[in-house]
Amino acid sequence: MSKIKLFAGGEIPIEMHRVSTVHNIRLIPVEDRLAALDEAGNCSYNLKSEDVFIDMITDSGFNAMSDEQAGAFHLADYAYAGSATYYKMADKVKEILGKDYFLPVHQGRACEQMLARSFVKPGDLIPTNFHFCTFQTQVRLQGGELVEFLQDKGLTTGGEDGFKGDYDIEKLERFLTETPRERVPLIRIEAGTNLIGGQPISMDNILAVSAVAKKHGIRTLLDMSLVMDNLHFIKTRDGKRKDKSVREIMREMADAADIIYFSGRKLGFARGGGICMNDKADYLTVRGFVSCFEGFPSFGGMSSAEMEVMRVGFDDTMDENVISQGPDFIEYMVEEFKKRGVPVVTPAGGLGCHLDADRFCEHLGKKDFRGAALAAAIYLVSGARGMERGLSSEKPEDSIAPFELVRLAVPRRVYTLSHIMYVIDRVTWLYQHREMIGAMRWEDESIEEHSFIDFLRPVGDWREKLAAEYKKANLE
Ligand code: F0G
Repeated sequence: MSKIKLFAGGEIPIEMHRVSTVHNIRLIPVEDRLAALDEAGNCSYNLKSEDVFIDMITDSGFNAMSDEQAGAFHLADYAYAGSATYYKMADKVKEILGKDYFLPVHQGRACEQMLARSFVKPGDLIPTNFHFCTFQTQVRLQGGELVEFLQDKGLTTGGEDGFKGDYDIEKLERFLTETPRERVPLIRIEAGTNLIGGQPISMDNILAVSAVAKKHGIRTLLDMSLVMDNLHFIKTRDGKRKDKSVREIMREMADAADIIYFSGRKLGFARGGGICMNDKADYLTVRGFVSCFEGFPSFGGMSSAEMEVMRVGFDDTMDENVISQGPDFIEYMVEEFKKRGVPVVTPAGGLGCHLDADRFCEHLGKKDFRGAALAAAIYLVSGARGMERGLSSEKPEDSIAPFELVRLAVPRRVYTLSHIMYVIDRVTWLYQHREMIGAMRWEDESIEEHSFIDFLRPVGDWREKLAAEYKKANLE
């Protein structure tokens, strides 16, 4: 039970935990937020966290640990080789995901690097439901390219389809029939789908992709970084599986994949990542790269303490009360925004509440960095930091992003309902003053393939005017 009906009417999500360790936060005055934005080049990634009141940039490595996880920190065996911590984690992976071989690495993109180095060669094509930027970068660095097979329903910000992360199976079949087998080393499934608003993929669709992959003799690669949300959505939206336990759903999904990887910064509430599989030859190939680039394979890129935390986090993930906390808060935000007319991605997905910056800022042009401008404006009027998901995270040379979003991530067990209500209130104020949000221009000097770190220059003095209007409202 994670939602309660109120006697006075309505329903609210309720925290199925109490807090024992806290981290103080502060709300700096609006003038200081304007100065902080200047210093940060108007990019929320560049803000100092102590200048942020409610940090909704991501849940990555930012979910709160349980008391059992904090305790597990001290169980770590730091032995270079043969560490007990490693064997306990490998056993947990075997128990929950049913895979024989486990390799820890330092985070999700390290998994992607190891896998791309192991399997992708120049000219290869990797089908996926939708790209994620870090995986795309690693594939491109090896000379390959991703091919997306998302159904059209996933490319809209509206609608109520519960599984917008689904593959177009017919299109995938056609592609595999027309493309030489040796150019397709992997078929990737992202569960759930980050860049389209954390939207889940259905179990039936995963099974269908896996069957097609098997038929063509190609490995299925499953990115489980966002699986906690996806499990919750299968449990609550897929009538056929509503009576199955989270553990059973997880296992059914894992069995459909040859290789699984995950960011342990999300799955497992720790700071790490991992790759697992049953095929010994594949394992040995990937292990070679882990030894080269991450560390000895029994710790890879991870601290043993974090691996202990991740192991306990895997157990926590099997608890519906734990995994529902993010999606229930997100659904609350989405429903409240809908009532207030604020444009959001529907239905509510995982990871965060996604504002539709194209509709929020429709007075701006498609190349005016609507998402980045909105993220900066939200910080200005609330001290809350979201993440731009659009032109600047895709790199402007890529021209038009499919859509411009601002993600207000909901890290699990970190914020309370009053924090969430505050953010809803301030974003609603901003929506009513949306015409004041102006354009941004790009001034990035980074040379990385993917950096997230941009510098943006406002066109005109709209931020100053917006700050003055907010001050007049006398809300702080
Ligand atoms: N795959 C997915 C689906 C992700 O969401 C992420 C990270 C990664 C891989 C890479 O993992 O960050 O540990 O290297 N998503 C973060 C986010 C950055 O906030 O969306 P990582």
